[in-house]
Amino acid sequence: MPAVDLLRARFLEHFDGEPQFFRAPGRVNLIGEHTDYNDGFVMPAALEFEAQAAAAARPDRVIRIHSLNNGKTAEVDLDGAKPEPRGDWTDYAFGVAVMLEAAGNRLSGADILVSSTVPVGAGLSSSAALEVVVGYALLSLAGREVDTVELAKLCQKAENEFVGMRCGIMDQFISCNGVVDHALMIDCRSLASRPVPIDQRARIVVANSMVHHALADGEYNKRRQSCEEGVRLLRPALGEIRALRDVSFEDLEENRDFLPDLTYRRCRHIVTENERVLQAAEALQNADLDTFGRLMNASHVSMRDDYEISCAEVDSLVDIAQAQKGVFGARMTGGGFGGSVVALVESGAVESFIANVRAAYQDATGHISEIFACAPKNGVGPLTD
Ligand code: GLA
Repeated sequence: MPAVDLLRARFLEHFDGEPQFFRAPGRVNLIGEHTDYNDGFVMPAALEFEAQAAAAARPDRVIRIHSLNNGKTAEVDLDGAKPEPRGDWTDYAFGVAVMLEAAGNRLSGADILVSSTVPVGAGLSSSAALEVVVGYALLSLAGREVDTVELAKLCQKAENEFVGMRCGIMDQFISCNGVVDHALMIDCRSLASRPVPIDQRARIVVANSMVHHALADGEYNKRRQSCEEGVRLLRPALGEIRALRDVSFEDLEENRDFLPDLTYRRCRHIVTENERVLQAAEALQNADLDTFGRLMNASHVSMRDDYEISCAEVDSLVDIAQAQKGVFGARMTGGGFGGSVVALVESGAVESFIANVRAAYQDATGHISEIFACAPKNGVGPLTD
């Protein structure tokens, strides 16, 4: 049965009316990790895993949402007391409603059923997909044109200010603006983006480590603080730098004595990672997959040793992936402390890659990795089939 018919049937179990249908994808980041909140460069692609919504306007200003993933229903009245975060999944949805209204979009009430195939805790942006699909649905029901760059910014704002996670713009941006069969090279300062085609000879393969260490959010915010500290301490020597984006590797090396060693290593990851993304975009554009793969491998070393956001299971999965025949490169993807590994694999070698990595990872850790090859999809939009 087409997705829309299934969603309609489930919608009618909880709500009345004729819904409209929407989708927003999760993402995998090929390279450029933790660079987004440093005004730097990232290169993600939108996945076929996505959040879907069936939504119908209501005559009042109540938003009711039901999740097929956890079976729960929640509601908020936009004309009632100022909505407060509840510390659960609803913050992603209601936080976006709050930010849309604060930005001057008067919303109507809505009944929304959501269902997502993006695995939670896998570093593939399940929360951004939920935010974006709800934001797009609410704007559409209110009869508004959707500017997908503005929507990405407001969803990030919801996550920063309502959920309390100081994430960058990458996840919401790619969920809003992904391009089918392409990765997107994003300048997180100007928000200019450019689709980069994935060469037919290779496939992007994602392997979930199946672990997610709970310290992730606290450590994420600590990494941001180290980057901010680096900028503050380098400013007297380098002048009006705004972010680590403005610091070259030479600048950093010449001024490393101004930085405590830990801060220096955090900054070195960001500065070298930005450089790698620029080189990787050029390599992919020129179909130079060997160079692209080497940059992925170097990115992992930098995340593991300088930024210290990997973990034993992910390192093991990366080592196993890099050792396979037909692999150009592999690295952890996403925020870190577990989650997924992304590899670039020769098209003809994908099947054996998947089978071998799954077996070797199970031997090494006891976890059974979920592994799949991706075909990048478009960003948010109506769901049509
Ligand atoms: C999380 C955040 C993003 C980005 C990545 C790391 O996914 O939401 O903004 O910082 O981590 O690259």
